[in-house]
Amino acid sequence: MDFSRSTFPPDFLFAAATSSYQIEGHGFGGAGPTHWDTFAATPGNVVRAEHGQIACDHYNRWEEDLDLMQAMGLDAYRFSTSWARVLPEGRGTVNQKGLDFYDRLVDGMLARDLKPMATLYHWELPAALADLGGWRNPDIAHWLADFATIVMERIGDRVFSAAPINEPWCVAWLSHFMGLQAPGLRDIRATAHAMHHVLTAHGRCIQAMRAIGMNNLGAVCNFEYVQAATDTPEASEAARRYEAIYNRFFVGGLFQGAYPDEVLEGLGPHMPKGWENDFDLIGQKLDWFGVNYYTCKRIAADSGPWPSLREVEGPLPKTQMGWEIKPEGLEHILTWLQQNYTGALPLYVTENGMANADDTTTPDDARMDYLDAHLAASQRAIAAGVPLAGYTFWSMMDNYEWSLGYEKRFGLVHVGFDTLQRTPKASYHAIARALAR
Ligand code: FCB
Repeated sequence: MDFSRSTFPPDFLFAAATSSYQIEGHGFGGAGPTHWDTFAATPGNVVRAEHGQIACDHYNRWEEDLDLMQAMGLDAYRFSTSWARVLPEGRGTVNQKGLDFYDRLVDGMLARDLKPMATLYHWELPAALADLGGWRNPDIAHWLADFATIVMERIGDRVFSAAPINEPWCVAWLSHFMGLQAPGLRDIRATAHAMHHVLTAHGRCIQAMRAIGMNNLGAVCNFEYVQAATDTPEASEAARRYEAIYNRFFVGGLFQGAYPDEVLEGLGPHMPKGWENDFDLIGQKLDWFGVNYYTCKRIAADSGPWPSLREVEGPLPKTQMGWEIKPEGLEHILTWLQQNYTGALPLYVTENGMANADDTTTPDDARMDYLDAHLAASQRAIAAGVPLAGYTFWSMMDNYEWSLGYEKRFGLVHVGFDTLQRTPKASYHAIARALAR
C-alpha cells in the first residue's frame, strides 16, 4: 500500500472497528435475546437465516484478536458493548459476567497500548425492549441512558472515547422505513418516531456519561456521496430529498437544532408529540464527531408517495456489496461537514472499508487499493483544513454482516467460520508495514 504513518499529522490515530453482535457470539456468557436473533429467525430476512449466536467467538478469543491489533501497529480499537449482554432484559438485572467481559476487554486493550473507543449501541436491541416498541417508544432515551450509566460506571474511567449510537440512519430509516434490518418495519410513523428518538437517546446518554465525569464524547453517523442520476430537475429534487434524509437529518438535529424541510415534508405529520422542544437535549456539546463512509448513490425520481425516489445503478467499479467505489466522496463529506456543521470539532473516520468474496481464494489487492484511495482522500481533506484526528478500518475481522450473513467479508483478518481460525490477509500485513514507516 502507498500510505505511510509519517505523512499524517503526528497525533493522528489509526484504528480498526468491530461491533459486539457481529463478532462476540451471543449464544453464551448470559447474553439475553436481541431483536437481531428474532429478525434472523424469521424466514426471508437474513441470507440463509444466519445469526450471531457464535459469530467470531470473540467472547472467548478476544485475547488473540487484541494481539493481532497490537501486532498490526494500531493506535486504537473501536468496539461496541452489547446491551443484551449486560442487561439481558434491557433493564433491571445486570449480568455481571457481561460487565466483567467488557472490563477485561478494556484492560486488555490498555495492556496492548490500544486506545479503547467505545460505542454503546451498535444495533442489538434487547428483545424485551423491542416488545415495548423499541425505538418507537420515547422511553428508549431513558433505557439507553441507564444502560450507559451501568456500563460506563464500570469501564468509563479507562475508555479513550465514547459514542452512544452507531449510525442513526441505519437504526431508524433502514430498519423502520426500508425494513432491511431489525426490526424490519416498513412504516412511516414508526420511522418518524425512531428518527427522533435515536437523537433524544443520544442526548440522554451524553448527559448520563457527563454526569459520571466522562469526557471525549462524540456521535457517529454514516454518510453517502449523493448525485442525481440524470440531468433533470425531478432527479435533482429526488437526490436532494435522499441527501436530506441520509446526510442532513441527524447532523441537523445534533448541530443546528433543526431538521431539514425536505424530510419534514414527509415525516412532519407523523413526528412524536412535542418533538420541536427536544433540541436542547439533542444538541449536547460534543468533543468529536465520527464519519462512517463507504460509497456513493445515484438517485432518480419515482412515482408513488414521498420520498418518491429510487436508486439507480452507477458505472464505477463495485465492491462485493455492489457498492460503487468513490473515494472523492469521503473528501467531499469531510469538508462539507466541517464547513456546514462541525467547524473546529475534531472529526474521525470511524468506519471505512470494503467487502470481498472469501479472501482465501480471492487476492486482497482490491481492498488495499480501496483503503489507499480513501486514506489519500482523508489526507486531501486534512490539507484543505479539516481537523481530521483519526481513521478507522472496517473491519478488523470478517464477521456477521447483518442481513447479508457471513459471506460479505470486510475483514483485514480472515475468519474461517467453520474452524473460527484467524488468518491475517495481505491488507493486514500491508497496513502493518505502512504504520511502521
Ligand atoms: C456499517 C455498519 C457496520 C457494517 C458496515 C459494513 O453500516 O456500521 O456494522 O455493517 O456498515
